[in-house]
Amino acid sequence: MSVLAKLLGRQSFERIVVEPLRRRHVAAVLPIEHASYPAPWTAGVFQSEIELARSGERHYLIARDGAEIVGYGGLMFVIDDAHVTNIAVAPSRQRQGIATRLLAELAWVAIARNCQALTLEVRVSNVAAQALYREFGFAPAGVRKKYYESVEDAIVMWCNDLALPAYRHHLAELCPEATR
Ligand SMILES: CC(C)(COP(=O)(O)OP(=O)(O)OC[C@H]1O[C@@H](n2cnc3c(N)ncnc32)[C@H](O)[C@@H]1OP(=O)(O)O)[C@@H](O)C(=O)NCCC(=O)NCCS
Repeated sequence: MSVLAKLLGRQSFERIVVEPLRRRHVAAVLPIEHASYPAPWTAGVFQSEIELARSGERHYLIARDGAEIVGYGGLMFVIDDAHVTNIAVAPSRQRQGIATRLLAELAWVAIARNCQALTLEVRVSNVAAQALYREFGFAPAGVRKKYYESVEDAIVMWCNDLALPAYRHHLAELCPEATR
């Protein structure tokens, strides 16, 4: 990436606002979802996840630059663990730190809810996402065979350090902009 591209990315990063996903955002989220996944979530899936967020079983955030939604991500809470259900950034806005910001915000939410660990599944072929997750301390813990479309394996990753003070320090360094 050129120095100019990095500088422009940095400037737009500073405009990013993170806030809860609402029903009114779904139409703008869908094109990113379709650009991101071979089997994208439907509007109905997003609406039902938003419903579950109201009862505290989920937590979804969007990242926006002005009125433009540029990314989103969310958590499902299962006892003491928080499962990253989805995280995606508009293709034209990738490599600008937006997923890092979203994941850091979500990790702080999980910490505030006294979760002990974060977990997720990721396609074996999705090296970009795996690199992002490694930065957050996720490590591979197993494989779900043919998890995606009954064809591609999923790597199950866990980050078990959530309750440690050192992890909070790491998060703050990784993304100082995220709300603690
Ligand atoms: C994975 C994804 C969410 C990353 O979003 P992003 O906003 O571009 O990520 P960031 O800019 O915060 O990147 C943080 C780090 O992740 C790693 N990373 C991100 N994209 C990468 C890529 N294409 N190749 C290699 N590493 C990558 C890098 O270490 C990067 O740090 P760097 O830019 O300083 O090198 C984005 O590529 C995406 O939306 N993909 C489609 C949806 C998806 O696969 N979601 C994950 C499902 S499990």
